[in-house]
Amino acid sequence: ETLDATGLHILPGAIDVHVHFREPGYTHKEDFGTGTAAAAFGGVTTVFDMPNVIPPTGTAEALAAKHKLASEKAYVDYGLYGLLGEDTIAHVPDLVASGVIGFKLYMGNTFGNIPSPTTGGMLEAFEVVAPTAKRVSLHAETASIMARRESRLRAAGRKDPLAHLAARPAVVAVEAVSRAAVLSEWTGCRIHVLHISSAEELRPLAEAKARGVDVTGETCPQYLLLGAEDYGRIGPVIRVNPPVREARNQAPLWAALKSGVVDMIATDHAPHIPDEKVRDDIFTVDCGFPGVETQMPLMLTEVAAGRMSISDYVRWSAVNPAKAWGLYPHKGILQPGAHADIAIVDLKRAWTIDDQKLQSRAKITPWHGRAVTGLPVHTLVRGRFVMKDRTLVESARGTGRSVHTVQDMPAPRVANPDAAMTEIVKIPASSRGDAATGA
Ligand code: NCD
Ligand code: ZN
Ligand code: ZN
Repeated sequence: ETLDATGLHILPGAIDVHVHFREPGYTHKEDFGTGTAAAAFGGVTTVFDMPNVIPPTGTAEALAAKHKLASEKAYVDYGLYGLLGEDTIAHVPDLVASGVIGFKLYMGNTFGNIPSPTTGGMLEAFEVVAPTAKRVSLHAETASIMARRESRLRAAGRKDPLAHLAARPAVVAVEAVSRAAVLSEWTGCRIHVLHISSAEELRPLAEAKARGVDVTGETCPQYLLLGAEDYGRIGPVIRVNPPVREARNQAPLWAALKSGVVDMIATDHAPHIPDEKVRDDIFTVDCGFPGVETQMPLMLTEVAAGRMSISDYVRWSAVNPAKAWGLYPHKGILQPGAHADIAIVDLKRAWTIDDQKLQSRAKITPWHGRAVTGLPVHTLVRGRFVMKDRTLVESARGTGRSVHTVQDMPAPRVANPDAAMTEIVKIPASSRGDAATGA
């Protein structure tokens, strides 16, 4: 198969470590077919799927059922998170044995109403996960602070969209990140801070990194590009946890990416249908919106505007996520022997985001009508087209694989494995062996 890529650029496919593809339980919002098709159109070749579904992915049975659904429908590779809560601590060994990319722990309430562990429960959970070397990804908002704020605002009859922001002041995240870092330091459990939204929570994150805590962090396009003044223009669709904050937070978040305090960009792809997003009472609107298909165009627009270099972007979209989860150098990089997970993009293509044309089943995002520059034209996963000429390759349905099995696939040939390896802090023994055999 040949391809004319004149004028196009070849990038490593993005690795989005934070998506909600809603299966099983909420397939009116999304499923592994529509979600991974959206990924393919967005130049995203690997996604890590969250466990807040029905039933939550907190048992080996639920995980096995999800693996089956994903393997039958997925167009791109994926990892599945196991749910870590007080009632699932005992399931950790089984979940690890059945193939999880890591664990998700909800410190605060969000869509799905997963109960948050007490600090004692969280300490115990970290103690159990630490020896498995899996990373625990955190919804780092403090449940008890939010509950009190929200009930006060409700009682006061606040219905404007900004009430959502007021219910989740940044201290909610600062407290959670600080506490999680202490527990991670105490137990040696690796952690990842999801959806970093505020300048304030960068300080406990930076301090933890300086102390040597194995913590990584992500921010999302909505926190880099939107601000409180967009609530009026966009309306309740903008509601997301954590909330889009005052625009003054954007510059510190960009600076944190550049300095390495924040490691990567993820999307928190959280689809809900229009009926669930457009309501008078802001507190009854489901939080979140799709993002996996628009992340690369939105960020390439910032590259075109000179806000970051293309290599910055690749580091934040592919290399750093692959390193943090031990997928590197199999994924996240273009070099001989790595999986050919590739986005071929037109960096000059100007177009306008139209919710109706997106692949996600939830046809509603805050990005509708936004002008962008940059478009994935073809996407390949492990050398096979999954999206070609802006058309879904139907025969690729069901070819996406869980990265825990892809990791064991025939070893990629790495030109200089020793040099590649020295860059890697804690690559799992299994993939180290793979790379060495292939050399
Ligand atoms: C997410 C969802 O809908 O699953 N919503 C959101 O607002 N981000 C849950 C989450 O990530 O908190
Ligand atoms: Zn969350
Ligand atoms: Zn999320």
